[in-house]
Amino acid sequence: MMDSDQTALVGRSFDNLWDSLLPIGRDQRTGGYRRFAWSAPDREARDWFHHAAATRGLPVEVDRNGNLWAWWGDPRPDSVVTGSHLDSVPDGGPFDGPLGVVSAFCAIDLLRAQDTGGPSEGRAHRSVAVVCFADEEGARFGVACMGSRLLTGVLDPHQARRLTDADGISLADALRASGRDPDQLGRDDEALSRIGAYVELHIEQGRALADLDSAVAIGEGIWPHGRWRFDFTGRADHAGTTRLADRHDPTLAYARTILAARKHAERLGALATFGKVVVEPNGTNAIPSSVRAWLDARAPDEATVEKLISALTTASGAAVDRESWSPEVEFDPSLRARLADVVAAVTQPASSSPRAAPPPHRPTVPILATGAGHDAGILAPIAPTGMLFVRNPTGVSHSPHEHADRADCLAGVAALAAVLEDLVGGHGNG
Ligand code: GLV
Ligand code: MN
Ligand code: MN
Repeated sequence: MMDSDQTALVGRSFDNLWDSLLPIGRDQRTGGYRRFAWSAPDREARDWFHHAAATRGLPVEVDRNGNLWAWWGDPRPDSVVTGSHLDSVPDGGPFDGPLGVVSAFCAIDLLRAQDTGGPSEGRAHRSVAVVCFADEEGARFGVACMGSRLLTGVLDPHQARRLTDADGISLADALRASGRDPDQLGRDDEALSRIGAYVELHIEQGRALADLDSAVAIGEGIWPHGRWRFDFTGRADHAGTTRLADRHDPTLAYARTILAARKHAERLGALATFGKVVVEPNGTNAIPSSVRAWLDARAPDEATVEKLISALTTASGAAVDRESWSPEVEFDPSLRARLADVVAAVTQPASSSPRAAPPPHRPTVPILATGAGHDAGILAPIAPTGMLFVRNPTGVSHSPHEHADRADCLAGVAALAAVLEDLVGGHGNG
């Protein structure tokens, strides 16, 4: 439980971090964020991370894949890791990713103010790292969670180096332009060995918590999801002289495929979105020669995603290629139970100590599954992993209108701090 001085300190710390990060990569016209991996705004956000760590006296390590780790206590095996990402989707909101990083620094500020015996005081069993994963959104090179996939070895570094952005710039060249050596990419056993547990705080990306009247929830798992590229080929021709019967217009097949995606998603209880399309040559008075479109598909189970893709591959007549895949994830059940207990004690304090035995009337913390992808999902097979979600009153995300109330963000910080305090104590699992 925070006293009034600590509440004020956390509020100040949150506001300072938030206000300094907010202008970075925000598009003036849309108000959305365009922090694409290894772009100038992304580098600026990474500099912000270095600065936030330095002002707290937390040394930063950069792993082989460009993920940033700020250490409270010595980097060592079995540490407790928390954080998220700072990159964004095109015109993303301010909270998706940054809330987890900002909250992680604030949680450390709070634990230090509470003087409960953190790693640098030498009384805790485990160190804490704040991580900022590189390229979580995959907005530039098409593969989601690139930094954590490379770290864990589930993405082949040769394949990663050859990925290109919309301008044909390869990841290898983008890394070089940011002063990084692309030959370093790959599974990083030293960094992995230090992860004893990972807890990622994230804005909720739906609106379950508004109805449940709770500021914070615990993550249950992540739906399987992926990205598929559909290539429709046609024949370029004149818009004013080519008879309708003579056209080979690929936009028609694309349009039919969008409608089929909706129909099959409804039939199967899945989600299907064509959110990105490139039409060539993209002239008003020219019948297109090709349409390249990307499908994002998700469902509660993998068999349903497979059925959806198979139906759409057949219906579209397009060449279909999978570019990114994230299998179904269930977060560690015993860590989840532990987080629920600790968070319940903080959000509904029923006694003077969060570690005290829960009274029988203590309300439970909501446990939510999500269709959104996270680096936590990639780390789940490596170490006990969990997530905290902070209420999003409208549920809108991947949009400039994404929002969380400041009071809920601070409740999230308090919850995360209690979780870190519990986990660094070193008793039990996780
Ligand atoms: C990441 O936010 C995703 O779910 O695509
Ligand atoms: Mn996102
Ligand atoms: Mn995110």
